[in-house]
Amino acid sequence: MLRQAILAAARNDTVKRVVAAAPLSRNVVRRFVSGEAVDDAVRTTASLQSTGLTVSLDHLGEDTLDAGQAEATVQAYLLLLDRLHEAGLTGGGRTEVSVKLTAVGQAIDEGLARDNARTICRAAHAAGTTVTLDMEDHTTTDSTLRVLAELRQEFPETGAVLQAYLHRTEDDCRALSGAGSRVRLCKGAYREPAEVAFQSPAEVDRAYVRCLRVLMQGEGYPMVASHDPRLVAIAGRLAEHRSQGSYEYQMLFGIRTLEQQRLADAGETVRVYVPYGDEWYGYLMRRLAERPANLVFFLRALATRS
Ligand code: FDA
Repeated sequence: MLRQAILAAARNDTVKRVVAAAPLSRNVVRRFVSGEAVDDAVRTTASLQSTGLTVSLDHLGEDTLDAGQAEATVQAYLLLLDRLHEAGLTGGGRTEVSVKLTAVGQAIDEGLARDNARTICRAAHAAGTTVTLDMEDHTTTDSTLRVLAELRQEFPETGAVLQAYLHRTEDDCRALSGAGSRVRLCKGAYREPAEVAFQSPAEVDRAYVRCLRVLMQGEGYPMVASHDPRLVAIAGRLAEHRSQGSYEYQMLFGIRTLEQQRLADAGETVRVYVPYGDEWYGYLMRRLAERPANLVFFLRALATRS
């Protein structure tokens, strides 16, 4: 209930204005976001890599209806990839980038988003690394998978994200479980209706296990994106027939950092999803919705200082 309410409030313009303008919001944001500048992203990446973790960087922003803004996002990724390459951080895919198609024009025109994403894929490829297309709300799923299929013709290493809460996802996992296919499986972070998505946490967890089983039994490269201790343990068991390095764990920056390190120290590949940039509002709201404790932390910070 609370999760639905926060995700609904996140779409309210007044709430957005108040939260985005509150001076203390920034400090709370720091827990989940590496910083606003490209230098922050590069510094955080170097620091995580020095402890044996790998990284996927997300330039924050989504839902643009402005082609100029979409182009600015492409340029931000090109600069980022350049800087990471220069710093020697991209080799072997140790740092890749995550891209939201709605940030590069999907709501304006699918072809524009595809061409923009292709430009980023080309730069990532030249820097020795990959792109993963984040998955957004269910109205974009078909379009995102279409763009993925087109990009994979030229850049077969391009990764997909599938959300276990959608009824369709087990089939999508089957379709994307072939050799060379990189699939990040997450629970799903958006507010979705019962017609398309499981609503109860128990149903979502069960769906996650079904989907993960398909991916682990397939020939692709599963990316287990969850902080849930039970699912991480189940993933370990489902991966027993695989060698370490033929799949990976993924967690968000600032969440369960000890667990990230424990898995990496045990020889697992662990990728930390690191957002940076000043368009942090939507990302913050999804993190707050996932965990009431984060909301309490956020409200307390606002109440004590502003
Ligand atoms: P769940 O939410 O049940 O949390 C399990 C435990 O993890 C909690 O009990 C708590 O200990 C810890 N935890 C989880 N979230 C926390 C938080 N916000 N703050 C503090 N502790 C927290 N979604 C999407 O729709 N599209 C996408 O492209 C992506 N991409 C993506 C990449 C990566 C690397 C990750 C890890 C996640 C995503 N997600 C996503 C988000 C995902 O769908 C989901 O909303 C979150 O991962 C939370 O779900 P969990 O599986 O972690 O379980």
